[in-house]
Amino acid sequence: MNETISLIIPTYNERDNITPLLKRLERALAGYNYEVVFIDDNSADGTAEVATSLADKYPVKVIVRKDKRGLASAVVDGLSHVSGKIIAVMDADLQHPPEVLPDLLKEMEKGADIVIASRYVKGGSCPGWSLSRKLNSRGAIFLAHLLLPATRRVNDPMSGFFMFNKEAVAGAKLEPLGYKILLEILMQGRFKRVAEVPFTFGIRGRGESKLSAGQQVAYLRHIFSLMKRTGELLRFLKFCLVGISGVGVNMGLLWLLTEFAGLFYLTSAAIGIETSIITNFILNNYFTFADRNQPGRKPFFIRLLRFNLVSLAALAINLAILGFLTEVWGVFYLLSNLFGIAVATFWNYLVNNWWTWKP
Ligand code: GDD
Ligand code: MN
Repeated sequence: MNETISLIIPTYNERDNITPLLKRLERALAGYNYEVVFIDDNSADGTAEVATSLADKYPVKVIVRKDKRGLASAVVDGLSHVSGKIIAVMDADLQHPPEVLPDLLKEMEKGADIVIASRYVKGGSCPGWSLSRKLNSRGAIFLAHLLLPATRRVNDPMSGFFMFNKEAVAGAKLEPLGYKILLEILMQGRFKRVAEVPFTFGIRGRGESKLSAGQQVAYLRHIFSLMKRTGELLRFLKFCLVGISGVGVNMGLLWLLTEFAGLFYLTSAAIGIETSIITNFILNNYFTFADRNQPGRKPFFIRLLRFNLVSLAALAINLAILGFLTEVWGVFYLLSNLFGIAVATFWNYLVNNWWTWKP
């Protein structure tokens, strides 16, 4: 491959890592054309000066931004300073071993549009992590998989180490927030073939991590913003709307069958409940999840069966919460029920999104 590879490397106070990083890059990428674009947020420790001083020895460009605007935004800015068509994003602190780059390139040569260096595929790892950091990382991935189903095709959407065709993000509106640039790029870019290769997340030798509690709040805001921008929030609102229509069907049948067909009210209620489950299913299938019912997916009746099972569990959840809040905490039963309905709605949405209309 003689395409130029542009490495975008955000830096903030990484002075002592620059020289070892450039040396290892030179060795790892021997035989390839590449450039390194550092996006520095005006580090006080002289990172930009060190990098600039090495520009006659290595293919280095240094962009200094006057204020600290964060890792993910640094990568987006970097995109307008690259000359290559293949972009690699990595950290400067050597926790992303440059020796993995040829593995990423191999997958690109095989036709991938984006290749992720992953901690969570067979052979990948992050040694030396505390239990709480591990849980944090897994929890963040779980949340992304749950709320942004399109990320489910990737095991490590939180990785900061990846390579992609610049073309795939041409025209994409990138509005990242905080740390998770891959999440933004995956959701907003156009990628047909996605590959993951394992790597071992290194242990930081010099300098320190900038990951703070504030980043976790930024992460939640980022997920919410992506849900808004990609229509997932709208999907949830549609689901709620369908749910409300189901209440109408349920109550209407209860009334009609009891008053006019002379049925015992519990019999009417049972018919009302099942009918509303079926109308909810049909509306969700052709409205809420219209993008996920093409041929080749799970057959209609399997989906209907799943939807019924999820609804049954939702009923149990609703009743359990109603009983618990009323009996144990002494909450007024109508209020308890409202809470039970809210939890059951989230349950219904998440499980049906995950399972019934699997993306
Ligand atoms: N320009 C700029 N501005 N660069 C920054 C900023 C910033 O505000 N904050 C951090 N960086 C740079 C660091 O200098 C380093 O090169 C890289 O971004 C990663 O920062 P670290 O602070 O070392 O992050 P980390 O090791 O805790 O997190 C890494 O691993 C995570 C996976 O657990 C990153 O790669 C994350 O993206 C990744 O999700
Ligand atoms: Mn790091």
